[in-house]
Amino acid sequence: MTTDSLLARLRAADGPLSGSALAGSLGVTRAAVHKRIEKLRASGHRISGTNRVGYRWSGSSVRLDASTLKGPLARDVVHRRVLGSTQDAAKALAVRGAAEGTLVIANRQTAGRGRLGRRWSSPAGGLWFSLVLRPAVRPDRVPALPLVAALSWVEVLRARGVPAGVKWPNDVWADGKKIAGILTEMSAETDRVQWVVLGAGVNVNNRPPWSLPGGRSVPAGSVAQWTGRVVLEELMGDWLARFSRSYAQFLRGGFSPFRAAFERWSVLQGERVSFEGPSGPSEGRVIGVDRDGQLRLISGRGKTTCGAGEVSLIRPWKGPGGLRSLP
Ligand code: BTN
Repeated sequence: MTTDSLLARLRAADGPLSGSALAGSLGVTRAAVHKRIEKLRASGHRISGTNRVGYRWSGSSVRLDASTLKGPLARDVVHRRVLGSTQDAAKALAVRGAAEGTLVIANRQTAGRGRLGRRWSSPAGGLWFSLVLRPAVRPDRVPALPLVAALSWVEVLRARGVPAGVKWPNDVWADGKKIAGILTEMSAETDRVQWVVLGAGVNVNNRPPWSLPGGRSVPAGSVAQWTGRVVLEELMGDWLARFSRSYAQFLRGGFSPFRAAFERWSVLQGERVSFEGPSGPSEGRVIGVDRDGQLRLISGRGKTTCGAGEVSLIRPWKGPGGLRSLP
């Protein structure tokens, strides 16, 4: 039984559900039900009643219980109710020598930042966090790291039934809507990385912003649109577990081991796109990603790669997981 399945039962019920009824239907003991109820209450769910008279869910204050986050990439968790930007807070800690696995997480941000200097809307109910990493790799390997992080989100979300795909370089989309984005900043010498701060913003239980700011407006979605309300720390814990494994693999073997999975879940794979070519704006068909995580394309001038910038689909498309149209 996960806390999510217990929560789903409580939310769907018309009246109180007794501890023994819940225990019977979920195949666990009443004590286990009681323990999970306490956990849900601690994370902000309003649940009245007891095992005997029955439990009734009446809402949630969408708090985040960061004390449950564990593992090598949650070595030191800094949780605040409100921050300007977790990215700025984590960078300040990294500059002062914070260890790998320092995780800064906020219920909401007042000055969230996206890629290319864009604003990032971060109300309560979403996951907004930044992670300090100190990867022992050459600085030119780091641009592939956010692709691995985005892929980990896609895998975690697909396991929960969200038809997620990755949009190169590091966005997560589902059904034609952007649901998550990654921002990576680094300090390095010529041949040595000092720190990387990997920030992620995931629309989860929050109402998604009408559109995300950008050159063209981008439709936004939230995980809960597919799953119903999610326990934030469980989702975060799933990603930490998955990304910890992928990060270890990335340190050993670079991006190569992730190419096939990235291409499998890429919403751009095989599609015609416009992109920033070596000599200005260009058009081509996406044929994959290379071992450094650069986008591989074929255009009128032959094969080429794209390492940075915006890539846009030329025509609406229906891809894996039912993605319909992408800017
Ligand atoms: C994007 O442009 O798609 C990347 C968005 C990254 C937003 C996250 S939210 C947590 C962290 N703090 C910030 O200010 N930005 C990142």
